[in-house]
Amino acid sequence: MTEKNLTWYKDAVFYEVYIRAFNDGNGDGHGDLIGLAQKLDYFKDLGIDCLWLSPMYPSPLRDDGYDISNYYDIHPDYGTLDDFKFLVSEAKKRGIRIITDLVMNHTSDLHPWFQEARKSKDSPYRNWYVWSDTDQKYNETRIIFLDTEPSNWTYDDVAGQYFWHRFYRTQPDLNWDNPEVIEEFKDIARFWLSMGLDGFRADAVPYLIEREGTNCENLPETHVILKDFRAFMEEEFPGTILLGEANMWPWDLRPYFADGDEFQMCFHFPVMPRLFMAIKKGEVSDVIDIMQRTPEIPSSCQWCTFLRNHDELTLEMVTEEERQWMWQQYAPEERMRLNLGIRRRLFPLLDNDRRKVELLHAVLFALPGSPILYYGDEIGMGDNIWLFDRNGVRTPMQWSNTTHAGFSDADETYAPVIDDSEYGYCTVNVENALADRDSIWYWMEHLIALRKAHTAFSRGTYSFVETDNPAVLAILRVDDRESILALANFSDCEQAVRINLPEYKASEKIELFSSIPQGFSEDEYHRTLLGPYEYQWLLMQ
Ligand code: GLC
Repeated sequence: MTEKNLTWYKDAVFYEVYIRAFNDGNGDGHGDLIGLAQKLDYFKDLGIDCLWLSPMYPSPLRDDGYDISNYYDIHPDYGTLDDFKFLVSEAKKRGIRIITDLVMNHTSDLHPWFQEARKSKDSPYRNWYVWSDTDQKYNETRIIFLDTEPSNWTYDDVAGQYFWHRFYRTQPDLNWDNPEVIEEFKDIARFWLSMGLDGFRADAVPYLIEREGTNCENLPETHVILKDFRAFMEEEFPGTILLGEANMWPWDLRPYFADGDEFQMCFHFPVMPRLFMAIKKGEVSDVIDIMQRTPEIPSSCQWCTFLRNHDELTLEMVTEEERQWMWQQYAPEERMRLNLGIRRRLFPLLDNDRRKVELLHAVLFALPGSPILYYGDEIGMGDNIWLFDRNGVRTPMQWSNTTHAGFSDADETYAPVIDDSEYGYCTVNVENALADRDSIWYWMEHLIALRKAHTAFSRGTYSFVETDNPAVLAILRVDDRESILALANFSDCEQAVRINLPEYKASEKIELFSSIPQGFSEDEYHRTLLGPYEYQWLLMQ
């Protein structure tokens, strides 16, 4: 494989599929792998390069599949291993890659390993989990699922000891100090990668190792394990990737890339809430500030940028004051909040305002990193804050205005389809979106195509250019072929802006979304007027 093929993820546009919600192929009311396979052309049409599938393994579903009870099979709701192989091979035919979630930190408490482990201290699986006679160990460690879990320790009557869990008490943490666990996970990875999978989104990786006297996050021992895991993947399955889920500050994220020999990609968690802060304030300094505090990463690595996903919009990576402000602004009702976040979808967060949705995407696609879209956001789906936990942002995909939004022909679906007056499936659906050339769907298709036509976005350098207007973000992307200036007015008023660009004085500027030439600058400044929430991508020849 050439260097370029090995780093395919740098040019890719990703899409997160929550399988249960996407398309029901067998009419039982749950989305499944066959249903998903039937929609592969949909992704191809949109321009998607790689799907990230939420966990598809057998699970009691106490955390929607992030509590795995068998790593070597498919959840019966989703189909069979043959269905999975079929999906992967059909995707390949269309040039679409697939990565899946790999939950390394913990299993379900119903996993046979845990069931064996709790039986006795002599069980061969006892040492696969983290046990203690007291609940006072590692007490500098924060609790993540604050709304439900009082402690990271839960007493198990059968085991006669406490077990450690960073998430729900139904998700005991594995003991990654045990080499058997490490070897088992290599086998699990082999099992899936040999079916042609393109890699994993590695779930909750900062918490693999615990040490007294630390906060048990991002420990050096954890990095040793992840590097070894990457080396194994590189060796046996070159071209496959690890995308790390580490909800951390940029300086704590940086070590996950190591010298280009740990994760190829990590989500950039901290920039996400700041994009929402900026659009509410009409002021861009928070975005610039966090990106300036983001260390450089090795050239083979890439950030993964996103606006929303299947979880709450996390506010872990902001200050306490900013969190309170974000809650006031975006989650005025108590039920919109969860743990340290906001359980709402993109369009409701942005007041169903097309200008704001376009602006944030135009910025997301111009920032360094490969963007990932969340299913349904390309048609402007809403949420259902009356559903439990994060289920309100995991409702059935809206395909058409027929029963159950064309998602399923069962009598009943796993969750109600959104049918309110603003986001209901009778108006918000794929069929309507595709019938209207002006829909957000076609705008996203155009956005994706533009990004892919200009490698400066995926492989170029980036810098923020100085402007005289705090409402305007100016990102310069440069590679050996071209230079692009992405401008974005985060305010709801028209803004005049002067951008300091002496090197591009002699360059003709062409706006890429509209293909309209903007002429030359008269001096070292580019001057322009941007309408409310207006963005431009200027190609500078
Ligand atoms: C990750 C997943 C989340 C899950 C948690 C525990 O953060 O995104 O959905 O609840 O891990 O596995």
